[in-house]
Amino acid sequence: MDRPRRPTTSPFEFPPGAAFTWHSESDEPAPTRLSPVDDGLSADTALKRVRRGEFLRYTGDFHNAKQLLGALGRRLERPWQARTPLEAFRAERRARQQEHATLSRIVVALDRGYRLDLARAPDVAEACRQVWGEPTEDFTVVPLKQLLGMLGAAEWRRKGLAVPGLKGLIHPHYGVYLPTRTDYVELLAAVPDVNGQRVFDVGTGTGVLSFLLLQQGAAFVQATDCDSRAVACARENAERLGLSQRFQVTEGDLFPEGKADLVVCNPPWIPEPPKNRVDRAVFDEDSQFLRRFLEGLPAALNPGGEGLLILSDLAVLLGLRPPGWLEEQFERCGLTVVWKESTPARHSKAKDKADPLHAARSREITTLYGLVPTTRRE
Ligand SMILES: C[S@@+](CC[C@H](N)C(=O)[O-])C[C@H]1O[C@@H](n2cnc3c(N)ncnc32)[C@H](O)[C@@H]1O
Repeated sequence: MDRPRRPTTSPFEFPPGAAFTWHSESDEPAPTRLSPVDDGLSADTALKRVRRGEFLRYTGDFHNAKQLLGALGRRLERPWQARTPLEAFRAERRARQQEHATLSRIVVALDRGYRLDLARAPDVAEACRQVWGEPTEDFTVVPLKQLLGMLGAAEWRRKGLAVPGLKGLIHPHYGVYLPTRTDYVELLAAVPDVNGQRVFDVGTGTGVLSFLLLQQGAAFVQATDCDSRAVACARENAERLGLSQRFQVTEGDLFPEGKADLVVCNPPWIPEPPKNRVDRAVFDEDSQFLRRFLEGLPAALNPGGEGLLILSDLAVLLGLRPPGWLEEQFERCGLTVVWKESTPARHSKAKDKADPLHAARSREITTLYGLVPTTRRE
């Protein structure tokens, strides 16, 4: 690590014992004690200290602090042999959680203007305001790893993200599911005529599926998401795309009130417990979201209406769901598949042979199911 001998100067003093606001995505309780550390700290010593439960407040150089995180991360990587995809998945998830818990003990302090207490620090104030709003205390303390994630997200939000088939860009917010996997988005092109239809978008995230359907001629979309960040993000994107007159989003569980001609949903697809707020976009404990979505779908449809469910088979490939489970759920909930369109996963992880889950990910298929209530078919 680059360790300058020259003294580093902090832009402000964070007095020992000062009150602060603590921000952590994983609901970890606020540290009761912060130990100041600087560029003289080696990664080996840092690892020993965080493993003993200490929170280390970095006060040295910003770039050295980032290098320390990288060095700690490399020390945590350990090879393991898995006999099944499920074992590989569980081991990988445990390792990621352990990595997250360890690295999150390297924290930094910010002042009331969200200035960072480190030499050579970038301006992080805008990224902090976007995620937390105005500060409520004189000091804020946050894991450096999270702050770096927030800076990356602020950059995505500023630049915007191109999505195949969408006219205009999506500007994602921190903590909202990013539509960088374009395979599932492209499946929407297979949807027959949506002209004039009233749509529900359940778990809207950035709102990307709603906007594609509105640009294809849908009359109005009512969207929901359980996460306030997604709601704010979708609302802002609707405005940017000039679609806010035909788009309404509310914070809530599953379906909006009333009925729709089309109900679209790209649910979290891994039936395992979420460990933090961001995980709720991907992890659905015991498939509760999916079961409840399918149970409620017939009642949410206008006569002649159709459900559009996007689902990857990764859970089956990992051994988290038995083959045929989804079809059983369709039958249990009185739903018939009237058409479907599938695509192999094309995201970068599907091609990464070093990924411990490569065997499953390289075979992953995502399918868009067109569903109608069974009684209508009889
Ligand atoms: C896989 S993401 C899909 C986001 C977006 N529809 C897309 O396709 O990019 C799933 C979304 O469902 C939301 N979600 C999870 N549980 C929910 C619930 N019970 N009710 C509403 N939304 C939920 C998550 O916050 C997340 O935004």
